[in-house]
Amino acid sequence: MCGIVGAIADRDVVPVLIDGLKRLEYRGYDSAGIAVIDGDDVRRVRRTGRVAEMENAAAQENFHARLGIGHTRWATHGGVTETNAHPHISFGELAVVHNGIIENHEQQRDRLRAEGYVFESQTDTEVIAHLIHFHQKRGLDLLAAMQTAVRELEGAYAIAVVSKREPGHLVAARMGCPLLVGLGDGENFVASDVSAIVQATRRVIFLDEGDTADVTRESVRIFDASGTPIEREVHVSDVSLASLELGPYRHFMQKEIHEQPRAVADTIEALMDDGKFTAELFGKDAGEVLRDVEGVQILACGTSYYAGLTARYWIEAISGLPCTVEIASEYRYRDVYANPKNLIVTISQSGETLDTMEALKYAKSRGHEKTLSICNVPESAIPRASKLVYYTRAGAEIGVASTKAFTTQLVALFTLTCTLAKLQGRLDGAQELAYIEALRQLPGSVQHALNLEPQIVAWSERFAPKQHALFLGRGVHYPIALEGALKLKEISYIHAEAYPAGELKHGPLALVDEAMPVVVIAPNDALLEKVKSNIQEVRARGGEMFVFTDADSRFGESEQVHVIRTPRHVGVLSPIVHAIPVQLLAYHAALARGTDVDKPRNLAKSVTVE
Ligand code: G6P
Repeated sequence: MCGIVGAIADRDVVPVLIDGLKRLEYRGYDSAGIAVIDGDDVRRVRRTGRVAEMENAAAQENFHARLGIGHTRWATHGGVTETNAHPHISFGELAVVHNGIIENHEQQRDRLRAEGYVFESQTDTEVIAHLIHFHQKRGLDLLAAMQTAVRELEGAYAIAVVSKREPGHLVAARMGCPLLVGLGDGENFVASDVSAIVQATRRVIFLDEGDTADVTRESVRIFDASGTPIEREVHVSDVSLASLELGPYRHFMQKEIHEQPRAVADTIEALMDDGKFTAELFGKDAGEVLRDVEGVQILACGTSYYAGLTARYWIEAISGLPCTVEIASEYRYRDVYANPKNLIVTISQSGETLDTMEALKYAKSRGHEKTLSICNVPESAIPRASKLVYYTRAGAEIGVASTKAFTTQLVALFTLTCTLAKLQGRLDGAQELAYIEALRQLPGSVQHALNLEPQIVAWSERFAPKQHALFLGRGVHYPIALEGALKLKEISYIHAEAYPAGELKHGPLALVDEAMPVVVIAPNDALLEKVKSNIQEVRARGGEMFVFTDADSRFGESEQVHVIRTPRHVGVLSPIVHAIPVQLLAYHAALARGTDVDKPRNLAKSVTVE
């Protein structure tokens, strides 16, 4: 969703801002803009569409400055127009960029109108600009004016502000949305995401909830929510530049699909080094937290939710603990049953999905202290609010449609399952060794699944002209069918539904005819024969089936039934391997339809609003 970058330096910061915004493009946005302090002027350029268009406009208008802020906007309040794009300016004096949503913007707007302020956009952000200006006019300096203004705001925000009255300062504030300060040499930065400034510096300070910052070229002062100066730790980011570059690939999604053997191997590296499941994999004090767990409650959104649904099958079967999985946006508004002995597991690639964060806060407010975050972004908000953390090591995921984050989440969740099982006394030494060995073989099995790509390309050509598709799975492969349908609809815009195959006759069978492709995830497991009977129901109605199975399944092919086999049967880890072909199918179907694979319409990578 929205992204922020700001810079103060003794060189032209416009290229830094534009480069930063390009690196934030992956989050999803529909307009972009920058504002700079140039001598006595606040200059601004904004465009709907891509950052590249805004960059051209800035070049034509000869933008150069040593202080500036930039923004990519994903419309919430007000349509996708240049007037609504950030930065917003008050009285030609100060400019603001903002991520998040101000809930009391209407009251503040009325109050400011009464003070003579005129609003030109429909955004809540313009309220912030005028409010800071209002306090500045009363005699406060820029920092104090911003600190006073944010105390009057309700909602979530990360903001960065520049003013021509104080050209040596870049000020920023954070509440509910991520924001960090980047420390350079004689120059400093602010950004909502470290990838925006990684070319300039890797030394960063993550602002805490309620923090404000006063950033000059030579200094950074941080204040906590009460306005007291505070020291925050400096982190050195290990985001790799290579993970932010496309390399030889056509799309980030394609690159990220192909990175999965490495991502899976990295995610289990510590486990492989130890050669056993230990609570310490989840943090220093994890033994204490996990020992007497009575059940598991998983909370997540989107693809991460499907990772949770998969894990439920493992957790109940292997650890014997009851497990429920709920969409975070539902959980947070329900009067939930709370057992403080249950482990709350949030799963989030970005670590900043607002609904997941709020669900976690809600669980804590209901007495849950045992909290674990499975997350791909170090130091992001959700792991910081959790007692335990397991970082997936997928590396930066840029494509909006999640791929390598999903498979690494599954690996983390399987590791959690086995650790809980061991603590419950349900995992004997031989079984533990067998699971460790299965995980050790997993990157190779994932690579074998990737090698199926040419066959999947051939299938995708048949999919491209379709309007609808049905995905079926059973047991632990049902969530993989859900994920396959989600991938297909997200990036190819083909309407897709997923059902547990046994449910077919209770409704979706009515949809089956020659025009409806039916994708079946059917590896050789205890439910294979059941799936085969379900498939007969489709066949009898003229449906065309595309079956992903494995080497051991003895699936018959016919004119109506097409089969692709993953070369190895990997037992309990089979859903991880079967996630690969459905990702590839969605990718190639989207390619054939010519959609914007990495930035599908209307979707954002990190959903930081409700
Ligand atoms: C958005 C993304 C999805 C992602 C979901 C949850 O919808 O487009 O790919 O699965 O958010 O995101 P999270 O970062 O919490 O895993």
